[in-house]
Amino acid sequence: MVPTHKIENILVTGGAGFIGSNFIRSILLREPQVRIVNLDALTYAGHPANLDDLSDPRRHTFFQGNITDRPLVDALLRKHSIDTIVHFAAETHVDRSIHYPQIFVETNVVGTFALLEAARQYWAASSQPAGQDVRFHHVSSDEVFGTLGPQDPPFNETTPYDPRSPYSASKAASDHLVRAYFYTYGLPVTITNCSNNYGPRQFPEKLIPVMLGRALEGKTLPVYGDGRQVRDWLYVDDHSEAIHRVLTAGRPGETYNIGGENQPTNLEVVETLCQILDELVPDSAGVPHERLIEFVPDRPGHDRRYDIDIRKIKRELGWQPAVPLAEGLLITARWYLDHPAWMETVRGTPEYRAWIDRNYTARNLEVE
Ligand code: NAD
Ligand code: DAU
Repeated sequence: MVPTHKIENILVTGGAGFIGSNFIRSILLREPQVRIVNLDALTYAGHPANLDDLSDPRRHTFFQGNITDRPLVDALLRKHSIDTIVHFAAETHVDRSIHYPQIFVETNVVGTFALLEAARQYWAASSQPAGQDVRFHHVSSDEVFGTLGPQDPPFNETTPYDPRSPYSASKAASDHLVRAYFYTYGLPVTITNCSNNYGPRQFPEKLIPVMLGRALEGKTLPVYGDGRQVRDWLYVDDHSEAIHRVLTAGRPGETYNIGGENQPTNLEVVETLCQILDELVPDSAGVPHERLIEFVPDRPGHDRRYDIDIRKIKRELGWQPAVPLAEGLLITARWYLDHPAWMETVRGTPEYRAWIDRNYTARNLEVE
């Protein structure tokens, strides 16, 4: 891998969320000189606690604000001589997009557009040397490709887009905008489409932390439909490393798929978590945790299977996933067991209770 882009001052959007905060930790370790500006609106999904204990907090500056706020974004780009943007900020939960689609269009589409425009104008006007070597990296999802049948080949970088939820449609739209800025304006962009992430600090609305949190409280574990849907799972540190490779050595205008090369059903993931908890907390009220599994009404438009071909990033950038799923799930379960205060903070809001109520009461699930 030959580095082609040197990062000096990086703007990370959505850096108080799950993957963004992990990426900031990883950049602080991997890039000893880089200064980070973190712009995050602190929606329900963003938490300052995700940024506790950074290895070098002096190189990280946090701004609470919205990516759609052009004067703010323009000022940050100028004031901090930003040469690299890594764009994580988004509404990210498929189930929420079914109930509240508008905010997905506002943040994921209009927000990405605002950021692209700000970057284009700032870098076009910039006479600083950094202006010669800049990157806009857009973090996207494998969900833009739609759903696979049992025999279909995995998604690759040329698979046509076929999004099926308001979330994936909004991410697809943002990918198209990013690509358009490369072809029309020559903005040096890269895009990654990644599979399901998991690991420490994932907000407890997504499958794995929902299951861990509820199992530890002896509550039922809501598996949608028949639980035979298939996802590809990637440990979050591996995602951060992949983005770093693309940022420093990826080719502008290119897309790279990222994934963990595994194909468990949702039910298998939940059963594995139950077995891990049986071992880690043998005296828990829930043991054996598998008896807590309850099949509940399915997600509308639920994508059946994702599988992602990662040969391009392996070949061009020498990246491959390092953490096997079983090991990553064990690390993740331990992290949630060791951080009850984090869980309490992020779940202890009226907004969280209202969401759980909204999503699960209609599925006849005990929400208390
Ligand atoms: P997350 O929901 O944990 O965090 C999103 C962050 O963005 C939060 O900190 C939130 O406060 C911030 N944010 C939301 N709207 C904002 C706005 N308008 N302005 C500024 N900040 C705003 O998300 P995540 O799971 O860490 O995902 C990060 C990115 O990675 C997203 O773009 C997502 O589409 C993509 N992605 C996620 C996964 C996954 O499995 N979680 C997989 C592939 C790609
Ligand atoms: O594939 C990448 C995508 O993965 C990202 O782009 C999204 O931001 C991220 O949220 C994730 O989307 P999913 O919909 O796959 O993730 P989620 O954790 O919500 O659900 C994983 C699977 O588990 C899915 O098939 C739905 C199912 N599920 C989920 C929840 C919350 C359940 O069966 N029960 C649940 O309570």
